[in-house]
Amino acid sequence: MIIEPRMRGFICLTAHPTGCEQNVINQIEYVKSKGTIEGPKKVLVIGASTGFGLASRITSAFGSGAATIGVFFEKPPAPGKTASPGWYNTAAFEKQAIKAGLYAKSINGDAFSDEIKQKTLELIKKDLGQVDLVIYSLASPKRTHPKTGVVYSSVLKPIGDSIFSNKTVDFHTGIVSEVSIVPANEEEIENTVAVMGGEDWEMWINELKEAGLLAEGAETVAYSYIGPAVTEPVYRKGTIGRAKDHLESTAFSITNSLKDIGGKAFVSVNKALVTQASSAIPVIPLYISLLYKVMKQKGIHEGCIEQIQRLFSERLYSGNEIPVDPEGRIRIDDWEMRDDVQTEVARLWAEATDESLPLIGDLPGYKRDFLNLFGFDVAGVDYGKDTDEMVEIPGLV
Ligand code: NAD
Ligand code: NA
Repeated sequence: MIIEPRMRGFICLTAHPTGCEQNVINQIEYVKSKGTIEGPKKVLVIGASTGFGLASRITSAFGSGAATIGVFFEKPPAPGKTASPGWYNTAAFEKQAIKAGLYAKSINGDAFSDEIKQKTLELIKKDLGQVDLVIYSLASPKRTHPKTGVVYSSVLKPIGDSIFSNKTVDFHTGIVSEVSIVPANEEEIENTVAVMGGEDWEMWINELKEAGLLAEGAETVAYSYIGPAVTEPVYRKGTIGRAKDHLESTAFSITNSLKDIGGKAFVSVNKALVTQASSAIPVIPLYISLLYKVMKQKGIHEGCIEQIQRLFSERLYSGNEIPVDPEGRIRIDDWEMRDDVQTEVARLWAEATDESLPLIGDLPGYKRDFLNLFGFDVAGVDYGKDTDEMVEIPGLV
C-alpha cells in the first residue's frame, strides 16, 4: 500500500518500513565509517527499537561486532495497518545483522514485567551464556509494578508552589505561545519516579546477576538528561528530573551489588534530541529548535547515533578510565552544555516569536527529524511506491 504520515497531535499514527530501513542503514554506515571499537561482545539492550537504545544496539553490533538481544514494546503490523516505527527499525537492523553474520534476537513485550524478564534471561542462558553490557534505555509513560500490580503513570510537571509559565512552540504550525503548568502533587511525583526512576533497572540487573548471566566485569548503562536553566522547571527540577535523580543514585547501588564480579553501573547524560517522548514535553521543542540551529552553525550537531558512537569510542571503551563528572555521571551532553552554545541559545530564547523563529530557529530540522522517527521524509526513499506493511522481524523470540 501507499503509506503516508497521519498526524494526531504530537504523534504520528503510521510508519514507513522503507524509510525506517533507510534510517537504520544510514546509522549502520555511520558507525562503520568511524572504525572498530574494542567494545562489548554480548549485549542486552532494554529499549532497543528506537532512539538512544537502537543507536546503542547498532553501535554494539556494527562498531564492536557484538551479539545483541533487544527488548522493546512495539506494535506489529496488521493487514492495512502499519507497525510502530520500532518494529520496522528492528526488522531492518536484524536483516543487516544477519547479512553481517552477527547474532541478533529480539523480544517484544513489557520490559517492566516478570514474564518478559524471565523470557530474556532464558534466551541469554540458552544462546549467549552471559552478557558483558546491559543498556537500559526505556522511555515509557506507564509502568505496571510486577510485584504489586499497581499501575503508575508519569507526568511532566514542575514541582513547587507556583504555576510555571514560559514560551513553547507548536512545531507543526510554528506558533510560539505562552504555556502555564500547574505544579505536580506528591502522588504525581512518586508515580513519575516509579515509572522513569531506577527501580526497574535494578530489578533487571539483580535478576541477571542472580541467574549468573553477567560476565566478570560486566557494565550497565542507563541514560539521563540535564539541560539548561530555561527547561529546568519542566525537566530537571520537575517530576521527570526527580525520576532522573533516582536513576542516577540507583547507579551507585547497582555498582555496589556488582562488586564481587567487578561490574559497574553508569548513567550517561545525553544531548536533547527529537524523539516521540521529547516532543510531548512543553518548552522543550522550542529549546531544541534553537539548540539545533546553534549547534549546526558551529558544526557540532549530533543525532542519537553520533552521540552513542562517541559514548562507546571516547568514554566506555576508549581504553582509558571512564571519565565522569563530580556526581559520577558520564557526560556526552558536553557540546550541548558548552558556554558559547548556551549563551547563544539563551539570547535567541529571549527573542523568539512566531515572526523571528523561522530565522533564528531550526524548525525545518525539527520537523524533518520528527517525520524521520516514523520513516517519513527520509532522503532516497520513493514514497509513491507500493510498500508491504507486513514486515517480519526475523529473530523475534
Ligand atoms: P524512545 O521513545 O526513542 O525509546 C524508548 C524505547 O523503550 C523503545 O525501544 C520502546 O519500545 C521501549 N519501551 C517503552 N516502554 C516499554 C516497555 N514497557 N517495555 C519494553 N520496552 C519499552 O526514547 P529515547 O528518547 O531514546 O529515550 C531513552 C532514554 O534516553 C530515556 O531514559 C530518556 O530519558 C533518555 N534521554 C533522552 C533524551 C532525548 O532528548 N530524547 C536526552 C537524554 C536522555
Ligand atoms: Na531508546
